[in-house]
Amino acid sequence: MKTELLIVDKNVDNLDIYPQITQAATFLKENEVVAFPTETVYGLGGNAKSDEAVLKIFEAKGRPSDNPLIIHISKKEQLNEFVKEIPATASILMEKFWPGPLTIIFQKKDGVLSDVATAGLETVAVRMPEHPLALALIDAAGLPIAAPSANRSGRPSPTTAMHVWEDLNGRVSAVVDGGPTGIGVESTVLDCTAEIPQILRPGGVTKEQIEAVIGEVKVDPALTNVQAAPKSPGMKYTHYAPDAPLFLVKGSRDFIQQLIAEKRHEGLKVGVLTTEENSDYYEADVVQVCGQRAQLETVATALYDSLRSFNKTDVDIIYGEMFRNDGVGHAIMNRLLKAAGHKIVEEL
Ligand code: TXA
Ligand code: MG
Repeated sequence: MKTELLIVDKNVDNLDIYPQITQAATFLKENEVVAFPTETVYGLGGNAKSDEAVLKIFEAKGRPSDNPLIIHISKKEQLNEFVKEIPATASILMEKFWPGPLTIIFQKKDGVLSDVATAGLETVAVRMPEHPLALALIDAAGLPIAAPSANRSGRPSPTTAMHVWEDLNGRVSAVVDGGPTGIGVESTVLDCTAEIPQILRPGGVTKEQIEAVIGEVKVDPALTNVQAAPKSPGMKYTHYAPDAPLFLVKGSRDFIQQLIAEKRHEGLKVGVLTTEENSDYYEADVVQVCGQRAQLETVATALYDSLRSFNKTDVDIIYGEMFRNDGVGHAIMNRLLKAAGHKIVEEL
């Protein structure tokens, strides 16, 4: 399959009549799949009402079929078509955080969306992205758009069109290039079908921000206890992993440098995932800087590109610094732990 690269400046006016957007929307209406930028990561979109389109998404990504997709909309009114009811807490959250990086789980109306998209569940995950290209594209297609992150399953999510191209060139009809995404980690997935809403995946909107609006929310116990079965099917898979094994290190810089030195002594090439504050400190084969520790948003923005960048080097092993586990740090640590397969080295 030939993949079209459609480059669009997200700052132009009248995006809805921009030829590249029209072309991408035509693909979507024809049940073809198209990658496009959102404010979190690039998504791989397809008509959420069509089994044919949604199967193409799963196929292009190599995604397990029991992992449901998020449905993207550009107007709140679209919800009524496929959602049974909108609980009061969800209304408040939509008012506050849509468009934006919050995905809400609702009870699903039967017979509207493809059952392949929702993996046969009775619930559906929905979000309205805050990116002019995503909104213009969904509008132009006039459809709810199912869109997982536009990476091959298991790889770090894409934050640039180049990342998408690396993973999906030849497997999708088009990639809309709107430049790098801003937030860098995926949306927060919040289940609003229960009495007390529950975070199933930490992401761009923090627990603290949600609680400031609706009061107490729960966090899926599986996010802190690796033994428990997660309620969000996608959270059980290995994900985001670079090619070389990644070990997170709970300990001082000195301890990390000692680990690096030991492995180099054994003849291995060693990479370290660090931040601006600490990067000068390490002596390793690859020192990858991922944002500024003092501003965790910058770490989130750079995280997936940093993980991917190790694949362009010949490192045999990677050590990574850890981060505080609240605010945006919750999403960062969740992704890092998955990328590391929960391998942690602790300084005693
Ligand atoms: O930021 C994002 O959310 C990006 C952009 C493209 O919008 N999309 C994204 O999609 O991250 P994906 O497919 O990579 O992750 C969707 C997550 C998975 O963990 C999936 O299991 C969960 O949402 N999910 C979807 N529907 C669900 C449902 N009905 N109940 C529980 N979890 C659900
Ligand atoms: Mg994903």
